[in-house]
Amino acid sequence: MSDHGSQEVENTHERVLDAHLDRYAQRTAGMTASEVRALFAVANRPEVVSLAGGMPNLAALPLDSLADEISRLIVEEGQQALQYGSAHGVPRLREQICEVMQLEGISAHADDVMVTVGSQMALDMVTRIFCDPGDVVLAEGPSYVGALGSFSAYQAEVVHVAMDDEGLNPDGLREAISKVRSAGKNIKFLYTIPNFHNPAGITLAVHRRAEILEICRHHGILVLEDNPYGLLGFDGQTYPALRSQDPDNVVYLGSFSKVFASGLRVGWVLAPHAVREKLVLAAESATLCPPTLNQMIVSRYLETHDWKGQIKTYQEQYRQRRDAMLGALEQHMPPGCDWTRPDGGFMVWMTAPEGVDTKAMLPRAVTQRVAYASGTGFYADGLGSRQMRLSFCYPTPERIQEGVRRLANTITDELDLVRTFGSVPQRPVSGPDAPSVDTA
Ligand SMILES: Cc1ncc(COP(=O)(O)O)c(C=O)c1O
Repeated sequence: MSDHGSQEVENTHERVLDAHLDRYAQRTAGMTASEVRALFAVANRPEVVSLAGGMPNLAALPLDSLADEISRLIVEEGQQALQYGSAHGVPRLREQICEVMQLEGISAHADDVMVTVGSQMALDMVTRIFCDPGDVVLAEGPSYVGALGSFSAYQAEVVHVAMDDEGLNPDGLREAISKVRSAGKNIKFLYTIPNFHNPAGITLAVHRRAEILEICRHHGILVLEDNPYGLLGFDGQTYPALRSQDPDNVVYLGSFSKVFASGLRVGWVLAPHAVREKLVLAAESATLCPPTLNQMIVSRYLETHDWKGQIKTYQEQYRQRRDAMLGALEQHMPPGCDWTRPDGGFMVWMTAPEGVDTKAMLPRAVTQRVAYASGTGFYADGLGSRQMRLSFCYPTPERIQEGVRRLANTITDELDLVRTFGSVPQRPVSGPDAPSVDTA
């Protein structure tokens, strides 16, 4: 059958499944459900060790005192907490957010902060106000799957910039800019996760930060700094935020998801004043306002709890899990595997030996009762077929060790297959998977 013929069969098949197929806006073309979504339904069974998801571990939260605080909040300030608020966010919380950001060297005014429904919403809003279809966004390769989803939803083209052990490579950035510009395309911003990168587990070296900022400023490119993990350095270390060094050319995203509670969906964006005004208008049309109750819960938590102590507890908990993962990788992985050694955050990025296709291998890994996030989902251009993201944030250290042992067996079996039958045929290049809680 010709390509055209097979396409028709496919379209007819989709039409049977979705009677509205011809009605969707073009921008939904990039919104495809992850091919591995069904697999994750299996991967979430208790017998499977999932190293795939990026869910924070909330076991250490002081639930009893939080419950008391929330009920006091409803009794004392319920009329306000249960009411609409402004799209800008609760003023007291915006002031507290400025105090949180000071820990990474940022000095900001509460007026320039807008509260969002997680930093995921901020990613959407920033892309909405800056990107027309066909505009280019530069991003590290690999990059956060939820950001790639937002860029694709606004039909922006992502051009990846290579990373090395010290993070985003300045020469790679210069090269990418000149290639994109000579192709006559318009670069809207550089999206970067400088600290404890998701999925790469790498931190941008401090000595590179000024250089990256200088390149962007020189070429008139805005920087979008996404920093949900910055306070989760395992030795309590922090790095100077890009925003602290160039307030006029950096839009900064922060979140309470990883350092407090992801389910409250409270994040923020700090932007130059004019940009912040546009963002408030965009946010108003999207949600009217972020949930007042959740903002006031976060505000009370910051006021009444030892939130810095809680972050220390998280750091310690994730450090133990990171150690369990690195130890098990060292002990079990066959030769030819390579991985990053994060000093904060949630993830290790692993490269499997030549011949292994991590997406093709995933069903076999799940059969062996371990799951991971395969690498192609973290690239917009089909790269990453030998890579996988291993998250150590959620399972216990014992489960992590067992999961890595199972994964090592899977890879060893896969390498046997490759040796016997030759390398697994390459799959056609596809775009990133849509974000989901399984792979975020
Ligand atoms: C790099 C990065 N940015 C943004 C987000 C979104 O976080 P939230 O919307 O929960 O604040 C995540 C979540 O995993 C992330 O890893």
